Amino acid sequence: MIPIAHPVFDDNEIDAVSAVIRSGVIASGEQVLSFEKEFAQYCSTLDAIATNNGTTALHTGLLACGIHQGDEVIVPSFTFFATASSVSMCGAKPIMVDVCEESFEINPDAIVESVTSKTKAIIGVHLFGQPCNIAAILDVCEDHNLIFIEDCAQAHGAEYHGKKVGSFGAIGCFSFYPTKNMTTGEGGMITTNDVSIAERCRRLINHGQEKKYLHTEIGYNYRLTDIGAAIGRVQLRKLNVMNQKRNNNASFFSRNIHHPDITLPTIQEGCSHVFHQYVIRVRDNKRDDLVSWLSEHGVGTAVHYPIPVNEQPVYSDSQNPPCPVSSKLAKEVLSLPVYPDLSEMELSHICDSINRWS
Ligand SMILES: Cc1ncc(COP(=O)(O)O)c(C=O)c1O
Repeated sequence: MIPIAHPVFDDNEIDAVSAVIRSGVIASGEQVLSFEKEFAQYCSTLDAIATNNGTTALHTGLLACGIHQGDEVIVPSFTFFATASSVSMCGAKPIMVDVCEESFEINPDAIVESVTSKTKAIIGVHLFGQPCNIAAILDVCEDHNLIFIEDCAQAHGAEYHGKKVGSFGAIGCFSFYPTKNMTTGEGGMITTNDVSIAERCRRLINHGQEKKYLHTEIGYNYRLTDIGAAIGRVQLRKLNVMNQKRNNNASFFSRNIHHPDITLPTIQEGCSHVFHQYVIRVRDNKRDDLVSWLSEHGVGTAVHYPIPVNEQPVYSDSQNPPCPVSSKLAKEVLSLPVYPDLSEMELSHICDSINRWS
């Protein structure tokens, strides 16, 4: 079975982890500091703060931006749950707005309609590896004095008009879960160009400590380990090559999948896509049939995401208006394996299997 995702490791990760274990310093050591520095450099941001996952990166970053009870934060309805739940974790209210059918990204017109006097920030998600419409969102932020926050969990290395994601918002939040474009096992990172936000993030992930055993606010233990950071440093060095391979695989699919019931993903103007997922759309409620067919032919697939965030039971009494495009996409989307080390034979097999489906 060709799996839907597969991390790329070699002896370099194994050697890096062995060295950390042999050193005896497996937490709060030099590896985390070096990883933060190298990641900030990669994204061309002033600073980067490592966390133990992408959700805690979002929670910490939102708190550091001053999001609290009574605030509203606009998020797309078609995203992974953590984009919205991290807002709730701050005591604030996520307002889910609809997305654009072709790009899957938050719809800037829908954002404008949802701004109220309580709106404090907008989270743009670079879903499936493609930057969202950053220029349009920044315009709304400027018009209404709102904070722009980037959810970069799926878009390490993606660029918008030649500039890396994570460098546009007050903060950018990354995830290093094993299915992502680069991994540390579990892990996350907050990028920022704001010194005071960076300082507050560092305090919040470390029990609100100003210095050792001096706690000036309630914080958390959201720290990344040195073992994770050592893996992350190796993965970061390979990221551009891994993203190029994802792009090559995506181009292969786009050239070779031909089926009347399938719509292929598109790349929006000014965006460099890193294809965290290659997401096709299957018309007329035929998606589940294709899932079974591909499974019978040894191809693993996944649905990102079967239920829009605004339709999740936990948000059922939030009185969020319906998001019809998200509801439609939830019934149509299907992610194909696009990870870097797929062989040409596997790529051809995936395309042939799809083209032969009827
Ligand atoms: C868009 C998005 N935001 C946030 C997260 C949360 O990251 P993590 O799973 O590392 O907590 C994810 C992870 O899948 C994600 O895809």
